[in-house]
Amino acid sequence: MKLWEGRFAQATAADADAFNECLSFDRKLYAQDIRGSIAHATMLGECGILTKEESGVICEGLESILRDIESGALAVEGYEDIHSFVETTLVERIGDTGKKLHTARSRNDQVATDFRLYVMDSINRMGDALGNMIEVLLKKAKASLGHIMPGYTHLRKAQPINCAQYFNAYSEMFLRDLERLHDCKARTSVMPLGSGALAGTSYPIDREITRKLLGFERISQNSLDAVSDRDFVAEYIFCLSLISAHLSRLCEDTILYTSTEFGFWEMPDAYSTGSSIMPQKKNPDISELVRGKTGRVYGHLMAILTVIKGIPLAYNKDLQEDKEGLFDAEKTVLDCLTIYANMLDAIGLNFDRMAVAAEEDFTCATDVADYLAKKGLPFRTAHGVTGKLVRYCLDNDTTLDKVPMSVYKEMNALFDEDILRIVKAPHSANERNSVGGSSRTMAREGISSLEERLDALRSKRK
Ligand code: ARG
Repeated sequence: MKLWEGRFAQATAADADAFNECLSFDRKLYAQDIRGSIAHATMLGECGILTKEESGVICEGLESILRDIESGALAVEGYEDIHSFVETTLVERIGDTGKKLHTARSRNDQVATDFRLYVMDSINRMGDALGNMIEVLLKKAKASLGHIMPGYTHLRKAQPINCAQYFNAYSEMFLRDLERLHDCKARTSVMPLGSGALAGTSYPIDREITRKLLGFERISQNSLDAVSDRDFVAEYIFCLSLISAHLSRLCEDTILYTSTEFGFWEMPDAYSTGSSIMPQKKNPDISELVRGKTGRVYGHLMAILTVIKGIPLAYNKDLQEDKEGLFDAEKTVLDCLTIYANMLDAIGLNFDRMAVAAEEDFTCATDVADYLAKKGLPFRTAHGVTGKLVRYCLDNDTTLDKVPMSVYKEMNALFDEDILRIVKAPHSANERNSVGGSSRTMAREGISSLEERLDALRSKRK
């Protein structure tokens, strides 16, 4: 049975039915669809468009459908879409009164409402997963506060940093993601219901009643736009894409840092895999998979941006293509965030190895140049002098802390004994006390600031 078969002389072809149907995926919206219909029927009753009794019978019928779907007693199948399924089941259960549910409503404003409700729920779940990820990173940062590691640019050792600052950098990224989800939710929280098929409705509805019942912040202000706007889908998948981008960076660091070449982190066996041929292998498959899944999330972003391009006002069936990509992007990113938080929590940190690595490859050379510049030598000249010192070390197979004082003096008279204290990694990191810098004090402040901002964002959540 179809909701619209009245004007048709012929049944739809089986292949057309199969191609057009979306119940196989929009069944995911059953709870939102029923919530939306209960709110709509309640409002129709309040406004006298249906009698209170009719409205009550409809709401009870809808609640029984929700219960039965949830308990597994009612299988969601056999119809064109979730809206047809719910409405037809309602009529089966309560008779002709059920046929009044769709008064002053169209599937166009209905589906847009359902999907917004779904995305708002999904944003909450995603926010929880992000919050959990940040908590694991903060835990790692706290355990790392007293330790130094090499910081990199161009994947070459650059300057020593506090280990906690490293983890805080990822917390900053994920906190921005959480903020972005909040912003996205505010724009998603706009109710299209009451827009009808495209032009509004001639019934004396009260959209404020349905808005309040459904928990939307605002109601849409143009019915043509409201039924065809899927910006919130594109925006949410963009948020998910950036989360994936940030995760993929963490994956790359994990793969590098857990290699024997780096040896900074220890991969737990529980999150590693082996090779079918090489008995010695312990592979970081989880990180590689999470990094790889970025591709499909970006793919869904490109897909929705292309679907919404060039669509004439107002609703067009192209928009049915908005759902599967979002569902897949949502599941992918939720799974990735969850497994990565668990894995990161179990990763061991080899502080001794990082401390040794932080001293290697002249990571304190900038400190030598700064030493001279602070004594009055122009920085560019100091940079040149230090470059020559590094050259001397390379030629004589030595390090900056072992260069004889006579050589330092020869390079520049401003050098004193205290230079040997300067060229140590912990000293170098701890001197960088500018706001957000790599000193222990700043890393500690970074942790408290992140904790405060995370709490503030969580308490804003409605
Ligand atoms: N399945 C449709 C969608 O997802 C629901 C709206 C159908 N509206 C219509 N005019 N055929 O967009």
